[in-house]
Amino acid sequence: MHLSAEKAAKEVLRMEHITKQFGAVYANRDISFDVREGEVHTLLGENGAGKSTLMNVLFGLYQPTAGDIYVRGEKVRIESPAQAVRYGIGMVHQHFMLVEAMTVFENIILGDTRSKGIFIDQAARRKEIMELSERYGLDVDLDLPVTELAVGAQQRVEILKALYRGCDILVLDEPTAALTDVEVEGLFEIMNKLKSEGKSIIFISHKMREVLRVSDRITILRAGQTVETVNIGEVTGEELASKMIGRELKPSQYAKIEADGEVIASLNHVCYHKESKHNGLNDISLQIRRGEIVGIAGVDGNGQSQLAMLLTGNISPEAGSMDLKGNKVARFDPNGFIEESISHIPEDRNKAGLVGSMSVADNLVLKITREPRFSDGNGLHLKKKAIHDYALEMQEKYDIRCSSVTQESRNLSGGNQQKVILARELEASPDLLVAVHPTRGLDIGAARFIHDTMIMQRDTGCAVLLISADFDEILELSDRILVMFEGQIMGEYSGKNPPIEEISMAMAGK
Ligand SMILES: Nc1ncnc2c1ncn2[C@@H]1O[C@H](COP(=O)(O)OP(=O)(O)O)[C@@H](O)[C@H]1O
Ligand SMILES: [Mg+2]
Repeated sequence: MHLSAEKAAKEVLRMEHITKQFGAVYANRDISFDVREGEVHTLLGENGAGKSTLMNVLFGLYQPTAGDIYVRGEKVRIESPAQAVRYGIGMVHQHFMLVEAMTVFENIILGDTRSKGIFIDQAARRKEIMELSERYGLDVDLDLPVTELAVGAQQRVEILKALYRGCDILVLDEPTAALTDVEVEGLFEIMNKLKSEGKSIIFISHKMREVLRVSDRITILRAGQTVETVNIGEVTGEELASKMIGRELKPSQYAKIEADGEVIASLNHVCYHKESKHNGLNDISLQIRRGEIVGIAGVDGNGQSQLAMLLTGNISPEAGSMDLKGNKVARFDPNGFIEESISHIPEDRNKAGLVGSMSVADNLVLKITREPRFSDGNGLHLKKKAIHDYALEMQEKYDIRCSSVTQESRNLSGGNQQKVILARELEASPDLLVAVHPTRGLDIGAARFIHDTMIMQRDTGCAVLLISADFDEILELSDRILVMFEGQIMGEYSGKNPPIEEISMAMAGK
């Protein structure tokens, strides 16, 4: 998969001693790295390490406070994105920059300097784009409006646009963050094609597994500075993680439990939209006991979302039944389930997670405002100071980065919103915790803290259902593993020395 060192040896880009200050904040401080022809060079760093800032400097969106940029050996000043493109540098931002009302084709030719006035040779342009699309496997429908495209397709349009403009150094800023597993695989294939055609890719990520898979070299950034550049094959994931977070991260080994406590939740032959392979449940039976983590392994979109919604009272079964703490559930409604002490780390943080217009502090106590320590008279008179103090304690404990706990939660970054939800749901001492992708979007240090907290919950008697598309996370945390495929449970495995091959096959429906 990796090109030979010789072929990749030619340097196409070098950033030297780049410093970028915002007021007193050093987003980048004396960063140097170089990129070779036909290589994937990864910038690895935690949230806030300075990766996007460095790339915005490269793309001409920011001027560096100090430092130089060389493109193919020539020292250049890049004062605008248009200029960056002229030097062959294209960027796919974390948040796409497409014009939603326009079609894919219109977006791609937008700003094409060869198109003088309105007289564009449309047919020739289309042909050119189609050829690029085929060559790199960038499958898109040119005539669809961008609003109708899924995230993965929008990303392909952005890449196609950069290629159409002749870019041969492509910056992909956290391209996998918003993609499904299948889309990620597709992107990796495209990256391989780009590489084999001699294009260079600057890939940004903090997910160790994918970094190890796609990179040729990796430059680690921490707190705005370069830690070092390493060749793939010369480091382990653990070493990379330690370099990235600046302390040693020992491989976690949580003990696996064979729980025999009270059954908190059980599903008995539950069906919901069972004909739907991707959004249904087909005759699901399972039990979750106190003191165990049951992991649901599977490729996203095989009924996991519906399972989580059912267990949190958001949908009701069309056939079959559910028991909670020994009683058959008569009414499926989310508030009733919260009353039953069921916590939910939802898949869609925006819709189901936080009240964006409320402060961080108010979100943190949302489920526990009625506790006497936070209010008198059943939630009527709030004890503002107690809430504030509690919020500060949670801010510290969960490392929630915000300017103040009185800040509206919608203004927090995704990772920090996630920490607010986690704090609220985990601190509620639930009987059942339904955790869907609990660490998605978190960096490795934060993810470890959440894992430790979930284990602690388990050890104090909570029943945990963990749904995750991250197979490593499932293996690490689960006492039992159930595999879901097309709405069905394909098999159950013990969390102690689980048969990884067999589970992978089951995940693919084999
Ligand atoms: N426009 C800006 N104004 C002030 N501070 C900024 C700005 N952009 C980024 N920063 C700060 O610079 C640091 C690096 O941010 P960023 O480059 O976005 O990191 P990364 O992409 O690695 O997550 C952070 O502390 C961030 O808050
Ligand atoms: Mg960034």
